[in-house]
Amino acid sequence: MTQTTFGGDWTRQKLEILSRYLDAYTTALKNQQFRLIYVDAFAGSGYWNPKSEYAPEDYGDFHEVVKGSASKALDIRDKSFDQLVFIEEDPERSESLKGLSPEHRDIRIINDDANVALPKFCAAMSGRDRAVVFLDPFKTEVSWGTVEIIARTEKIDCWILFPIMAITRMMPVKNEPGHALSAHLDRIFGERRHWRNVYSIPAQLPLFGDEQPRQRESGTEQIADRYRERLESVFKRVAPTRRQLKNSTNTPLFELFFAASNPRGAPKAVGIADHILRYW
Ligand SMILES: C[S@@+](CC[C@H](N)C(=O)[O-])C[C@H]1O[C@@H](n2cnc3c(N)ncnc32)[C@H](O)[C@@H]1O
Repeated sequence: MTQTTFGGDWTRQKLEILSRYLDAYTTALKNQQFRLIYVDAFAGSGYWNPKSEYAPEDYGDFHEVVKGSASKALDIRDKSFDQLVFIEEDPERSESLKGLSPEHRDIRIINDDANVALPKFCAAMSGRDRAVVFLDPFKTEVSWGTVEIIARTEKIDCWILFPIMAITRMMPVKNEPGHALSAHLDRIFGERRHWRNVYSIPAQLPLFGDEQPRQRESGTEQIADRYRERLESVFKRVAPTRRQLKNSTNTPLFELFFAASNPRGAPKAVGIADHILRYW
């Protein structure tokens, strides 16, 4: 089985929060007639070795092999998921996921781009299906169109790892991004106006004849707030708390958001997720 190297302490936090939610979710719905599905859209190989192939300051320096999100979801026992869907674009990691499949469990492994596989999954959901989707990319792989399709199902709760460091680097402070970066940001935020409004003309008077470039405040808060607004525009509810995941030098890498799409279930789902985000 391939053991992948992904993250450090922040990865543990992310997995702990996810596990606690999955456990609470299946328990809360266990007496209802729904088919409960877990979708790991960036599933990895099932395990990760926190001693990283990436920058040590970003990913920590742990040495043991730890269960990844797909394995953690399989471990939910009080009431287990009726089906687990593991999407992974990398063929070797996808192959490795097959090693996780215990007998008598309904597991689908899809070797594809999550932005292709998730819309198909959403379109095929039946009226009695309910799902938790975990979006755990390395960087900026999640397209806004995919998030919107998830929200429209009204059947899915979604954990979203928003790559704040990568996106902050794409958005210079003293000038707006160029064409290629702007197109990339459009794909992440849906439309240009949703990210471009963090840029404004600076308050000081321009020098005669000078055209002032638009600038943004330094830091990550405004950008994370914009994404949160996007989530609120399509989901029924978004957890008020988000978890900032930082590396060992205290640099924010990701913001972990939770959003619920089902009109009846969203208040309870968000209550549980928000509690976990605050206290764990
Ligand atoms: C951060 S890792 C996931 C870690 C995993 N959730 C865990 O806890 O072990 C991101 C994974 O997404 C995969 N990936 C990258 N781009 C993808 C895409 N567009 N669609 C599906 N998988 C993708 C990578 O190969 C990698 O295994």
